[in-house]
Order: sequence, then structure tokens, then C-alpha cells
Amino acid sequence: MKKIPSYEIIGSREKALAIVDMPDEFQDKERQIAEEILKRHKNVRSVLKKVSARKGIFRTREYEFLLGDKNTEVIHIEHGCRLKLDPQKVYFSPREGTERLRIANQIKPNETIMLMFSGIGSYAIMISKKQPKVKKIISVEINPVAFEYMKENIRMNRLGDKILPVLGNVKEKCKGWHGKCDRVIMPLPREAFKFLDVACDCLKSKGGIIHLYLIEREENLQKKVKDLVDELKKKTKKSIDCKTKKVSPYAPRVNKYCIDIELF
Ligand SMILES: C[S@@+](CC[C@H](N)C(=O)[O-])C[C@H]1O[C@@H](n2cnc3c(N)ncnc32)[C@H](O)[C@@H]1O
Repeated sequence: MKKIPSYEIIGSREKALAIVDMPDEFQDKERQIAEEILKRHKNVRSVLKKVSARKGIFRTREYEFLLGDKNTEVIHIEHGCRLKLDPQKVYFSPREGTERLRIANQIKPNETIMLMFSGIGSYAIMISKKQPKVKKIISVEINPVAFEYMKENIRMNRLGDKILPVLGNVKEKCKGWHGKCDRVIMPLPREAFKFLDVACDCLKSKGGIIHLYLIEREENLQKKVKDLVDELKKKTKKSIDCKTKKVSPYAPRVNKYCIDIELF
């Protein structure tokens, strides 16, 4: 087959799976496409087709199983980190690996970090690998399956007790960490802004850094950022320095962004 739709691969050289974005025009060729993907990549054992957008609090999506091994759990390798997951049960996007590395490279020794919405622990593991002198990463996740994977990933990467995995809602679980963190990471682009109060409460009284993810139309971005900064200034009475980074395209003229906000 010459032309096949786009797909992403999650996993390692030993075992991986492919996830296909199948446009309608290919519907009667799904099996041939899956066979072609298995032929092209010797490590790919299963092929899944996306059948829904990400949804619900766990931000998972529905897939249709097309071909191969029904067991879709894999170990994904990302910048030296080993991440076990099943995309049918938890959120994971291999495309965000570069962004995780960008954040990890900013961490200084002795930082205490609140990692909200931590999923399978991908940010936490990358940070502790790149900055072994980090003091603590409190890693909060509400999906019990993702939480179990996070615990296993911490063990698998031999990261000892630097990462504290916490199961539950950020709204409740952050309370014990008020005033104790140097940095808060908020990778829940559609809703993270609703938790900005909680993030500010977690920061030490001298201030700190918040990485806020959001999805926004290009033409609305500047105003959105200004409004957020004004709101934060009012709430915290602090000075704010902020930089906006485009993480990935999301739809025509709509992108995922990270706003790095320093409060001092
Ligand atoms: C967009 S995913 C990001 C996961 C992970 N940080 C990553 O980059 O792979 C957001 C995660 O936040 C979790 N989540 C959503 N709302 C939450 C809440 N209120 N408290 C804790 N976790 C939440 C979801 O279950 C999901 O795993």
C-alpha cells in the first residue's frame, strides 16, 4: 500500500503499538492498513484506531482494536525514562516528550514540586532523571489505573522516594502542601486554569513558578494571558514575569500552550 493515514507509535524496540487516525475515505481498507503498519514496524504488535476524542475527567479516548496482540500494555521509552502504560486505560501522548524535557531542564537542585494531573508519572520521572537533586515531587492523579502505573514506573526507573504518588483530586490532595512548593506544574490544558488558586496556595510565601497549560485560539492568546496575569497579581499581590511557549498545534489556528509564570 502506498498511501496510509497518519499513526503514532507508543512503546519500545521490543514491543510497541500503533494508533491510527482513520479518515472516512480509508474505512473499507482498515485491515490492509493495519497489516501494512505491522509489516513496516517489526516491533509493533497491535494496531488501534481512534474512535473518539479525549473525554471525561481521566482524558482517555475510545479505540477500536484492529489487528495483532490484544494485550495493549507497553513500555514506552522517552529520553531514557521507561513508562509502562495501556493507552486504552490512561492518558498518554508521546508527542509531549519534548515539552516534558523542556520543563525537566529548568528544575534546580532542592526544589519541591507540586505536579498536578500527573497521569502515569511521565513528568515526575523525567524530572527526577534529569535533576537527581530535586527535593520532592508530589504527584497527584485521580485515575486509579494511571496511579498504579505511576507507582510501577517509579519502581521501574529506580527513583526511590523522590516522587510521592498521591491518588485523588488535586482540589483536596494539595491542601497538605500549602506554602511548601517552589514550583507547580499543571498539565490539564482544558481546565488547569480553574485550579490556579490551589496552585498559588501551594507556592512558598516568597513565590515560585507555575507552568500552566492551556488550549487557545491564536487570536485570543494575548488577552487570555493578560487576564490570567492580572488575576494572579490581584490574588497574590506579587510581581509576575511570564513567558508563553507553543507546545503543539491542536486544530486550525488553535494550539496547546504552556505559560511559564514566575511570581516574586
Ligand atoms: C492531560 S492528562 C496529563 C497526564 C500526564 N501529566 C501526562 O502528561 O502524560 C491529565 C490527567 O489529569 C488527571 N486529572 C484530571 N482531573 C484531575 C483532578 N481534579 N485531580 C487529579 N487528577 C486529575 C486525569 O486523570 C489525567 O490522567
